[in-house]
Amino acid sequence: MVKICCIGAGYVGGPTMAVIALKCPSIEVAVVDISVPRINAWNSDQLPIYEPGLEEVVKQCRGKNLFFSTDVEKHVREANIVFVSVNTPTKTQGLGAGKAADLTYWESAARMIADVSKSDKIVVEKSTVPVKTAEAIEKILMHNSRGINFQILSNPEFLAEGTAINDLFKPDRVLIGGRETPEGMKAIKALKDVYAHWVPEDRILCTNLWSAEVSKLAANAFLAQRISSVNAMSALCEATGADVSQVSHAIGFDSRIGPKFLNASVGFGGSCFQKDILNLVYICECNGLPEVANYWKQVIKVNDYQKTRFVNRVVSSMFNTVSGKKIAILGFAFKKDTGDTRETPAIDVCKGLMGDKARLSIYDPQVPQEHIQRDLQMNKFDWDHPIHLQPTSPSTINQVIVASDAYEATKDSHGVCILTEWDEFKNLDYQKIYNNMQKPAFVFDGRNILDVEKLRKIGFIVYSIGKPL
Ligand code: NAD
Ligand code: UGA
Repeated sequence: MVKICCIGAGYVGGPTMAVIALKCPSIEVAVVDISVPRINAWNSDQLPIYEPGLEEVVKQCRGKNLFFSTDVEKHVREANIVFVSVNTPTKTQGLGAGKAADLTYWESAARMIADVSKSDKIVVEKSTVPVKTAEAIEKILMHNSRGINFQILSNPEFLAEGTAINDLFKPDRVLIGGRETPEGMKAIKALKDVYAHWVPEDRILCTNLWSAEVSKLAANAFLAQRISSVNAMSALCEATGADVSQVSHAIGFDSRIGPKFLNASVGFGGSCFQKDILNLVYICECNGLPEVANYWKQVIKVNDYQKTRFVNRVVSSMFNTVSGKKIAILGFAFKKDTGDTRETPAIDVCKGLMGDKARLSIYDPQVPQEHIQRDLQMNKFDWDHPIHLQPTSPSTINQVIVASDAYEATKDSHGVCILTEWDEFKNLDYQKIYNNMQKPAFVFDGRNILDVEKLRKIGFIVYSIGKPL
């Protein structure tokens, strides 16, 4: 029986392994993590992450061929294939701080694999890593292996949060990179056989190691670049009377451009786009390619500009001051259908408004109060380095309340900001919200999900991204 162990029971490790277990009943899958609360949650009715469809998949396999455990060493020792899906955040200190990927967690996982292994293993890079990481991992494993053979594969993950289960069930492609040696090819085949249980063969792409590593960074850079491109256009639309939704629709009809990923927004968020582009920028700089680095850096700059532009619009529309005014924030997660707040644009927007002394009343259907308070007190990049957490600042607490629904959040407010495109925000009773707000009542739709004409008829002053005022 093939035994798989995945180190890291996070947003990628958990759902990916649950789907492998579901689709491959003959394979035993163990997901291990150093975090006891996380593993306890995976073994409970309250899974540690919110992801549509995930609970059903986990319930079907857990205890049969899917196990969650903190006994990392035992499961690594027993496995034939070890996936490593630990976090690879941006470094906050030292060489490359603010750009380079922090591979501390990865390296410690690799050293542990070398320490505990008693049989040959395929080690799979599932985390997103800088190109040439496989070479470093190979060195660590080979120099500590005591005669055991390790084959390293790169198998980056392309799932998006909120649609992870569907993405895993029907991936556009699965990418496997390996050494072009007989042993490397054998390892690629072994991993391919796992995915072939449910993924059509022509969607399983095999490349050399470095192409696979670069492809992951390239895919995220291209996706983020599309959003920055459309967001840059949104500023031009606002300045000229064009409507960015019409522009996206028109250009998306060109089959060479395509219609997906052209929604203008308050800015992209999430744990990966910014981190991976910064990482790409750093790699280009280290390889003596400053022009290439600067090209990709601009994607992040436009994203920061979009968030700042949104805050400035709120403040300037409300007569250049939001001091002491209650502003409702609807949505805090970085996108709908997830409770994840890593690098959510809501953090920068809220901090910007708080800098202008606004009082915020925040509601998100999936983000608990303690996460919102924690996120608003953290420094940039610190979310994945819990030791650097700042002490609770009384001013943050006084300026922010977390509401239990959208009506409570908006009551007596001067303005409403939509920062996540949750479906429930489309169908709220906006007449009721208007009646309970201060006047003039403002709506700032950072996701372009609301019916502007309808809101204007009610009496709201409405600002949408990239639309005529
Ligand atoms: P995460 O923080 O949710 O999960 C990582 C887990 O690894 C944590 O639970 C942590 O406790 C555990 N861990 C760290 N070091 C460990 C060790 N030495 N031994 C055992 N467990 C350890 O991260 P994530 O969102 O799942 O992302 C993981 C990787 O996948 C990152 O490189 C990320 O860039 C990449 N990725 C993420 C997504 C996504 O949608 N979140 C998608 C594609 C790729
Ligand atoms: C993204 C990629 O889509 C995945 O393929 C990749 O595996 C993953 O990053 C990763 O490496 O972590 P994710 O961040 O989960 O997935 O979600 P996306 O749907 O890509 O959205 C990212 C951000 O862009 C969100 O804040 C979203 O609201 C924003 N976005 C997306 C827009 O502003 N406009 C769009 O048209 C699309």
